Amino acid sequence: MTIAEMPVAKSSETNAHGYHSFSLGEFTFNRDEYFVYIAWPTGHHMMSADAFLRALQRDVAWDFFYGIVNFDGVIGTVNHYGTVDLFAGRYNESYRKAELDYSENHTTPEIRETFKAVLDDWTNAAFDPFASPHETGSAFGVKSGSNTKAVTRARVAAQRMVMVPGDEGLRTDDNGHPVNRMFADVPQDEPIIEVEPGFEQDVAAFNLFAYLSRSQVTWNPSVVSQCKDSLFCPTTEEYILPIIHGNDRVEWFLQLTDEITWEVEDRDSAAVRSRVVMRAGDICAMPADIRHQGYSPKRSMLLVWENNSAAIPELIASGKAPTYPVEF
Ligand code: PHB
Ligand code: FE
Repeated sequence: MTIAEMPVAKSSETNAHGYHSFSLGEFTFNRDEYFVYIAWPTGHHMMSADAFLRALQRDVAWDFFYGIVNFDGVIGTVNHYGTVDLFAGRYNESYRKAELDYSENHTTPEIRETFKAVLDDWTNAAFDPFASPHETGSAFGVKSGSNTKAVTRARVAAQRMVMVPGDEGLRTDDNGHPVNRMFADVPQDEPIIEVEPGFEQDVAAFNLFAYLSRSQVTWNPSVVSQCKDSLFCPTTEEYILPIIHGNDRVEWFLQLTDEITWEVEDRDSAAVRSRVVMRAGDICAMPADIRHQGYSPKRSMLLVWENNSAAIPELIASGKAPTYPVEF
């Protein structure tokens, strides 16, 4: 059976609002005009449909990301890189104390295909969950068309480094990608490279700011360079990160333009730890035992620097590696 043929538990009938309902293990998912309803054996929860779809879009596109993706203070996923926990109240002190928290482990293809089916069924034609709120229509109302093109967006994959001959990726002068309204002041000139004869195939440079100024999506880090496990993942941010990310490793943030405020909490209890205001040029390390959510009043550029090593979550969880990157 291919992944595409995998059965997804989807209701045969639509509800009064035109939407299908779904189930995964003991979890059920329903939506109406404004809200999403999630139920599990020990409880139930509701979320605004737009916030839910924005979070679901990230979780699907990132294939469950590093560590924990909290949709809000109750619902979320934990990536075990091959399997994924779907949980309710697991990182919520009150749910834990009342013993109402609940978690199920699923294979990655099973939860991925279910989430993709929910995302596609519940996203109406006017809504783009990756776009900033100002650049998309409404998520609300009765079922009205679909936006499969937006919710299945694939990243532009470069075959080689960007701008090197043979690179099939997005070039900054690509007419299909206009400069975003909030980056109208970003210079679009490209660096001049004078290559030593014989190295024309291998030496290139590009204007990363111009490149990012044309991004159509928000809160979606993309790998633009890789050196062993070191990944540079720049992204353009506007409004609120649609998930609260619980780290399983240290990650570094370099604020390239404008300003983001990060609310930082304890990863497990959600107790407030700090508020970090990052302005252009600021760099910070986010520890491995926190969760965080960013607020960007104006579209900004952020470089997320990830260590992709598969060994790290276990080293940190077992205490063999520290939760912070540097001893001062
Ligand atoms: C993060 O959780 O570290 C994160 C996620 C998405 C972004 C930026 C940062 O766009
Ligand atoms: Fe993070």
